Amino acid sequence: MSFRPFNPPPRTLLGPGPADVHPRVLEALSRPTIGHLDPRFVAMMDELKDLLRYAFRTRNALTMPVSAPGSAGMETCFVNLVEPGDQVVVCINGVFGGRMLQNVERLGGVPILVEGTWGRAVSPDQVEDTLRRHPRARLLAFVHAETSTGVRSDARLLAEIARRHDCLTIVDTVTSLGGCELEVDAWGLDAVYSGSQKCLSCTPGLSPLTFSDRALERVRGRSAPVSSWFLDLNLVLGYWGGEQKRTYHHTAPVNALYGLHEALVMLSEEGIEAAWARHRRNHLALKAGLEALGLELVVPEAERLPQLNAVSVPVGVDEAALRARLLYHYNLEIGAGLGALAGKVWRIGLMGYSSRPENVLLCLSALGSELGALGLGPATGDALAAAHAVLHP
Ligand SMILES: Cc1ncc(COP(=O)(O)O)c(C=O)c1O
Repeated sequence: MSFRPFNPPPRTLLGPGPADVHPRVLEALSRPTIGHLDPRFVAMMDELKDLLRYAFRTRNALTMPVSAPGSAGMETCFVNLVEPGDQVVVCINGVFGGRMLQNVERLGGVPILVEGTWGRAVSPDQVEDTLRRHPRARLLAFVHAETSTGVRSDARLLAEIARRHDCLTIVDTVTSLGGCELEVDAWGLDAVYSGSQKCLSCTPGLSPLTFSDRALERVRGRSAPVSSWFLDLNLVLGYWGGEQKRTYHHTAPVNALYGLHEALVMLSEEGIEAAWARHRRNHLALKAGLEALGLELVVPEAERLPQLNAVSVPVGVDEAALRARLLYHYNLEIGAGLGALAGKVWRIGLMGYSSRPENVLLCLSALGSELGALGLGPATGDALAAAHAVLHP
């Protein structure tokens, strides 16, 4: 048997993530590996924490990347904050709220569900009502940007309700960080995790995390030890914490952290508000083009994520076959629907380095051509003109 190096095809990633990685990040990953306790590396870690504070808009001391993907960021929040018997209100309006529920169950917590509609934001009224009926609840968990449906929930309002009921919040920002407004301090969010592979233009595999002082106090005041050794923040902070000497906890993914550092330097150069505006502008251009093609967005306008567009599949179109043709003929990846929306929608992401005008135009022309080949005769030229009008008013 002989094996050869793996050379991936040159895809354009317009699915739900990972998004395209910026060439500067790819270059940073290839820099020489140094020791994870090397003073120069430790100085880079400190800068990385400051850069993450910039991205999350927080001054939280506990702000760092977990050395594993977004799911590990999620587990870090739950495993550190939930103790057996704790009542936890979990909002489910898509796939990732469902995963939060599984975390609570596995930790022996008592989940209290706020069940929403797929494709709609979490209802603040339902949350208020649930917290009123469960005065012993200690935590409210919800997804800010639900990648499975392309919905943004009102994190500011949900956190305000939680505070009024003396609950801490666990907030999933895997798809929102860097792509749309997110204000950890101004909105008073407590335990917040994200992912490197979406709107940050970085490779998958790291989970930025930030904890308010209130959340950290809750971790420090636990009666039972944290059941995961790897994700126990009391131990992780021996390595990532700033005050005392750094000690070995695990071998940090050194080069991956170079990549995240570079991605965040780029975000600071662009400016976080400019990055939010870029995601919005490209979304509006895509939306204008999709509508000219006769396609409909699933989510009501006020609840739409600019970085993830759920599009209804036209009646009679085999959604998987069309996605396969986009991949084969245009090297273009878009996503399928998940769960309740499987088979019914495509998910078109414009995240991070993928959120660029040329990708909007590529996507519209490829979709237009393929729908045209099915005899649907969409107005591809009109779609490109509509997008162009948004991009260059
Ligand atoms: C909203 C949300 N939460 C959590 C995750 C899990 O992240 P990862 O796949 O990096 O573990 C994802 C991944 O797509 C996500 O979109």
